[in-house]
Amino acid sequence: MARLRPRPGILEIEPYVGGKAEVAGIARAIKLSANESPLGPSPKAIEAIRAVAPEAHRYPDGGADRLRRAIGARFDLDPARIVCGAGSDELIQLLMRAYAGPGDEVLYSAHGFLMYRLSALGVGATPVAAPERALTADVDALLAHLSSRTRMVFLANPNNPTGSYLTADELERLHAGLPEDVLLVIDAAYAEYVRRNDYAAGIELVDRAENVVMTRTFSKLFGLAALRVGWLYAQPPVVDVLHRIRGPFNVSTPAQVAAVAALEDVEHQERARAHNDQWLPWLRQALSDLGLEVHPSAANFVLISFEPEGERTASAASAWLERRGVIARPMAAYGLPHCLRLSVGLEDENRTAVAALEEFMA
Ligand SMILES: Cc1ncc(COP(=O)(O)O)c(C=O)c1O
Repeated sequence: MARLRPRPGILEIEPYVGGKAEVAGIARAIKLSANESPLGPSPKAIEAIRAVAPEAHRYPDGGADRLRRAIGARFDLDPARIVCGAGSDELIQLLMRAYAGPGDEVLYSAHGFLMYRLSALGVGATPVAAPERALTADVDALLAHLSSRTRMVFLANPNNPTGSYLTADELERLHAGLPEDVLLVIDAAYAEYVRRNDYAAGIELVDRAENVVMTRTFSKLFGLAALRVGWLYAQPPVVDVLHRIRGPFNVSTPAQVAAVAALEDVEHQERARAHNDQWLPWLRQALSDLGLEVHPSAANFVLISFEPEGERTASAASAWLERRGVIARPMAAYGLPHCLRLSVGLEDENRTAVAALEEFMA
């Protein structure tokens, strides 16, 4: 009997498992597993969502015009070069569909964001991972893994889950080494958190080169992960291609109005950034003081290495934390089974997590 068969590559996909939100037997777990904003959404965004609730029977603005204008005004960009999506995840998938397919290679760094591999497989392309150096993307290794079949290079900057980043100069060097028909996608989901003066999110590179795209999200600093809204900045030929293949109403009305309101609430953004500025270094220091190896991070989370074997493994630490109501993110899917990733939470959440790990290490 003939059986249904998906396209080649699809059955190689290990379905993406998001950060756990609940622990059995714990009424209100502390979720530090998905790099969300601990301060929550702007009250203005909440109000904007409420205000459009009675309009739920109307289709959204398919062009996301107001949102694109608001993003353009905020980041000093031409709104015509912005495309909005249902999270940057959707934009990654749209780019993949547009520029890669069977027989093509999609290149990224070994511990890069998981969606690059999964969405490359989803379009039948071949994912290629270049080794990293000290858990940081290695420009030379990436360039060495280019082949005549490479169509796209994905770089999360800063990267999830490692927290490491490439400087603007290194990014330039990566781009300079790419053929003009290879698209460089700079995924700057955590750009708003970065406090380094040698960092650039990628806007200037997009302005100069047709084969560069920068993606951004409202899921992190802006605290709107549930609404699924992201955006990208690219030159007109890429924008044109994406408008041809995206869903006509790919960003919902609540997502659009909340994102506009969140952009306007600069004070809330500043609070979120100041909170991270205070608690990211605190977390790193407190965990290092316990004898744990905590990798440097430019984002809103830390990657922690545990012993590969014995009593103090990452999986033992994860189970220990969960029994105390704290959810961290196991990293086996990223090829880092000895690591856990912990997002910056509220003050008491951070203190609870560190206290639990202190007992674990004792
Ligand atoms: C590097 C990176 N890119 C993209 C995303 C996807 O974000 P969203 O689809 O919520 O915009 C994430 C989410 O964790 C991420 O870490």
